[in-house]
Amino acid sequence: MVAAGLPDVVELDALPARITICEVGPRDGLQNESAIVPLEVKLEFLDRLADAGHQLIEMTSFVHPKWVPQLADAEQLVSRLNRRPGVRYPVLVPNARGLDRALDAGVDEIAIFASATETFAQRNLNRTMAEALEMFAPVVAGARERGLRVRGYLSMCFGDPWEGRVPLQQVVRAAGELVALGCTELSLGDTIGVATPGQVRALLRLLVESGIDLNTVAVHFHDTYGQALANTLAALQAGVTIVDASAGGLGGCPYAESATGNLATEDLLWQLAGLGIETGVDLTKLVETSAWMAGQLGRPSPSRVVQALAY
Ligand code: HMG
Ligand code: MG
Repeated sequence: MVAAGLPDVVELDALPARITICEVGPRDGLQNESAIVPLEVKLEFLDRLADAGHQLIEMTSFVHPKWVPQLADAEQLVSRLNRRPGVRYPVLVPNARGLDRALDAGVDEIAIFASATETFAQRNLNRTMAEALEMFAPVVAGARERGLRVRGYLSMCFGDPWEGRVPLQQVVRAAGELVALGCTELSLGDTIGVATPGQVRALLRLLVESGIDLNTVAVHFHDTYGQALANTLAALQAGVTIVDASAGGLGGCPYAESATGNLATEDLLWQLAGLGIETGVDLTKLVETSAWMAGQLGRPSPSRVVQALAY
């Protein structure tokens, strides 16, 4: 049972009127569940996310099934998806093999995923940063030749569990390399959730100075230290209008120590509603979806807003 309620609207200066939420629950969320979620449950989850008004839903990954068994059903998921008009359904693709699989399955938008640090490149991709770029180059080129959008994720932008502090110039350089490859959008990952708002502002300033257009930049915050919402507000104030979030706060990354869930979409929606920022996503329907998914997973949602409204 969901209690009615939305915050009063009181606007702040220097914020966009509308933003795009990239819903990453089905991919970033489910990849980190110890249980393998059945295909039928994933399909219903995707359906309910579209029903709630999401227009950009990252649905799965075409990675090696031994590395991420939770998403080994990518082909079946894409073929059985009830594709809604106007909804974009990108998938993660690491290499040429992944691109072939994704194209055969009929996907029309992809994301590659790079690292701002050597250690995570090795752990997540089994490659050095330079080797990973070589692996991505034909993927981006092949996808762009076919007219597909290509998001370029950059992980560990604000801290790395093995390397510690990540120099901002290192992140800017890695971001520039993804743009040079032909990525149409960047998503800046705080994979282990350690960033604070000043760091976010500082990185975005440096990216703009390096010539990157903030209209093509998304932010991807994990909420390990409870900073995701504050960091998002800092990014919006700096000019970002694309925010990644995960229904019910599902998520993490199986190859990054101490990566817990993403920013919960409901927590984001509550703040945006209070600031008068449009998203097209219905909070009540999403809370019901996350409460249902929590039931499927056998544990309560970590989202504060889901807890406040659904239980
Ligand atoms: P590898 O073992 O180095 O692969 O893994 P390889 O190129 O040496 O190939 C070995 C075998 O795997 C070959 O088969 C390939 O065909 C097969 P064999 O010839 O031995 O029979 N293979 C594949 N099979 C199916 N699909 C594929 C594929 N690729 C190779 N795509 C690889 C390299 C990149 C594949 C591996 O490291 C991998 O799959 N990594 C994925 C890790 C992952 O998914 N991590 C989570 C996503 S990133 C994330 O969550 C962060 C993010 O949310 C942002 C943030 O929070 O910061 C995006
Ligand atoms: Mg992530």
